[in-house]
This record gives sequence, C-alpha cells and structure tokens, in this order.
Amino acid sequence: MAVINIDEAKKNVEQVGFLDIDVDVELDLFKEIERLKKEKNAVVLAHYYQDADIQDVADYIGDSLGLAQQAEKTTADIIVFAGVHFMAETAKILNPDKKVLLPDLKAGCSLSDSAPPHLFKKFKEQYPDHIVISYINCSAGIKALSDIICTSSNARQIVESLPKDQKIIFAPDKNLGAFINKQSGREMVLWDGACMVHEIFSREKITRLKLRHPDAKVIAHPECEDPVLKLADYIGSTTQLLKFTKSDPSRAFIVATETGILHQMQKDSPEKQFIPAPPDNSCACNDCPHMKLNTLEKLYLCMEYESPELVMDEELRKEAFKPIRRMLDISAQLGL
Ligand code: 13P
Ligand code: SF4
Repeated sequence: MAVINIDEAKKNVEQVGFLDIDVDVELDLFKEIERLKKEKNAVVLAHYYQDADIQDVADYIGDSLGLAQQAEKTTADIIVFAGVHFMAETAKILNPDKKVLLPDLKAGCSLSDSAPPHLFKKFKEQYPDHIVISYINCSAGIKALSDIICTSSNARQIVESLPKDQKIIFAPDKNLGAFINKQSGREMVLWDGACMVHEIFSREKITRLKLRHPDAKVIAHPECEDPVLKLADYIGSTTQLLKFTKSDPSRAFIVATETGILHQMQKDSPEKQFIPAPPDNSCACNDCPHMKLNTLEKLYLCMEYESPELVMDEELRKEAFKPIRRMLDISAQLGL
C-alpha cells in the first residue's frame, strides 16, 4: 500500500466521503480485515444489500432491526457498519461510547432523503393529535421528530401496539405505510416518500417471468409499490424473505428486493433457484447505488485508519434515541 500522510488523507474524507488511498492489489483483504478485527476489537455489521465479499467478511449480517439490536448490545470497541448512513447513525445513537465507522460516508438512502426534517416538522404541525411512527430509513432529524421507530420486520406490530382509535402519521415510506394500512385496517396519514430501488420493479415483466417459471413463488419487500405487492406470494423484510426461502418447499423464487440478498439465499439454499425481479427498464436499478458505494477496499481502509467516523451532535442523538428505544422495548416484549 502507498505510504500516506493519514492527517492529509482524513481531510480528504470531507470531500469524497471515504479514504482515497490506493490499496496494494497483492494484499489479502479478507486476512487483513480479520487481523484488524482482532487487533482493534472491532465488529463488522453488514446489511444483506452489501456486496457478497463484504457479507462474507462480516461478523453479523441482518436486516435493519437485527443490525440495530446487534449495534446496541455489542461489546466491541469499534462498530464497522457496512450499510448506509442512517444505519450507522442508528448504531451511534444506540451505543454512543463506541467508535462507529462507515466505509463511505456518502452511502445515503433515497428514502431517507425524501423526508427533510424542516419540511416534515411543518407537515407534522398540521396533525397535532397524531402520533408519529417513522420507518428506521430516515435521518436522526426525522427520528427526533418521531414518537416510535419501526422497521419492515416489526412495522405492523408497532402500529398495532397503539389503541385502534389513535391517529397516526407514518413516515417516510408511503408504500410500507399503505401496506400496513391494508394489513391493520388503519388509516394512517402517509408522508410521500419512497425507495428508488423498490419502486423500479415492473409488474408486467414479473408477470411475464412468472409465465416462464410457473412454479416460482414471487417474494417482495414491503417497500415495493402495491401493484407489485399484489403479485407476491410472500411479503417481508429481508430477514423474513430469507427465512421464507429456507423453509418454503418451492424450488424457485422471483425476488423483488435489492439483489444483494440473493447471495445469502443462494448460500443457504444452494439447490434452489433465485431470480431477481426485473426493473421497468434495462438498467441494473435493483442494485442500490448507495449500498454499493461500500467496497471491500473501503472497508479495509476505514478499519486500518479508523476513518471515516460517524460523529453526531449529542442533543440530536438523545432526542433520536427515545423513539428507537421505544421500538426496541416493544419488539423485546413481543419477542421480535
Ligand atoms: P430491511 O433491512 O428492514 O429489510 O429494509 C430493507 C432496506 O431497504 C434497507 O435499506
Ligand atoms: Fe435506501 Fe432503498 Fe437503498 Fe434501502 S435500498 S438504502 S431504502 S435507497
């Protein structure tokens, strides 16, 4: 690896979001990352949408709920978060004494970006008697304006933990919110946000794919739009989708979520076939461009130089902590 001045390189992080250093191609990054984990007492948490190499080197792979639970209970000194910004931020909010590293600070989220806190604050003021439930895919600013956080694996239970006549604003994902409204019979007010990856699936192309694979089950993430969800045999969070493919006897699945999850599905059930649901154009838009900003090289560099680090304002952290705590407590009571 090139000899570098780390202080200069860290200044560079502010511009590009990651350490821009050439990594020696001869270096065995898997070995190096294992060495750094031990030397620094670091834990690598990865979301299912990360590259296969990153998933293979992670200590824990999970959905947003599982990752938050792991981040809260880890005894490691450093949490290396292979995911996107709101996930690493949630880890810092829950476990502020740990150093939290994100391989690329610019790994954002279109859904989170669809809810700027200053606009959401005004929106909320129109509904003074409503409780705010926010999907974890949002900034700390939105969390601080919320009463309870939820994830795709506990959204229904969180909503149903409130009295039936309780008025609710659900933010920022209108597709997940509409899905929960349908399931629970509620009429939550929905913020108009969505995920760019899950809105891209084509109902027509999935229908045609089903004709070619009549025995394949369609499985979908609830961030997808209603017409796609209507085609699904099973709807769930990434962890729930993965569990379903393991336990269901079908030999083939059409998977309507980000393609990273296919790596674990194929690993867990090598005898089954997993077909990514096609987007409504010819690009590879069912790859999340934010998640895919993280690479094995950036993961290695951020561990070696302990940068970029996720830092946050303590007052904001404390406010954002309360609704996440409430979610974790309800989830623990329900055994989720
Ligand atoms: P889950 O991890 O809850 O399945 O959500 C998927 C997602 O879009 C994360 O960004
Ligand atoms: Fe955000 Fe969608 Fe990417 Fe998840 S898949 S990080 S919700 S843009």
